[in-house]
Amino acid sequence: MPNSTFTPFPILTTQRLTLRQLASTDEQEIFRLRSDSEINKYLNRQIANSIDDARNFINMVIANSNKKDSLYWAITFTDKNILIGTICLFGFSAENETCEIGYELLTNFQGQGIMREALEKVIDYAFNTIAVQKIEAFFHRDNQGSIKLLKKFQFRDSNLADKTNPDLLCYYLTNPIDNLK
Ligand SMILES: CC(C)(COP(=O)(O)OP(=O)(O)OC[C@H]1O[C@@H](n2cnc3c(N)ncnc32)[C@H](O)[C@@H]1OP(=O)(O)O)[C@@H](O)C(=O)NCCC(=O)NCCS
Repeated sequence: MPNSTFTPFPILTTQRLTLRQLASTDEQEIFRLRSDSEINKYLNRQIANSIDDARNFINMVIANSNKKDSLYWAITFTDKNILIGTICLFGFSAENETCEIGYELLTNFQGQGIMREALEKVIDYAFNTIAVQKIEAFFHRDNQGSIKLLKKFQFRDSNLADKTNPDLLCYYLTNPIDNLK
């Protein structure tokens, strides 16, 4: 990400949540997220089999964050510094014009509007602080939880199926400020 303004790491807050940088102390919760079959049902990724896998993943995220390749937030309740989910901006284009978004929540915290609250803040940060013009989200066509969430924010279907995986849909949201130009 060609932007040096992300040091220090941007901590974001909402009514209930604090979004902070991932830390090595999050390994148990990262393991739960990345080993839970329900959470991983529609995600095309390597399942974590051990705490070591979670630890390696955290190290990779921290290394990418240092290279400014991505912004990966741990979602916590402000009054309890324990990771309950993650949200991430990654795949930034050369001038930060576009990026991708990804998110996940431990199952016992779903259905409480938590991701909606986190997503609203991260979209605002992407558009108003980084000045991204378009955010893209790729997800499995059967991932109703994700579709519902994205539609709440007026993400639109790009109608571009991934050539390598036709089950993967791409929704996008454009920066309303740029649309006024
Ligand atoms: C996608 C995912 C994050 C959505 O989580 P979620 O908890 O359903 O999302 P939300 O934060 O939007 O919560 C919505 C529900 O919370 C409920 N809710 C409770 N209190 C609420 C509040 N204060 N505000 C809003 N909604 C609230 C609502 O009933 C709402 O459900 P509804 O839209 O059917 O009415 C979750 O399904 C997940 O982690 N999936 C696995 C990982 C994944 O697939 N990630 C996507 C990869 S691209």
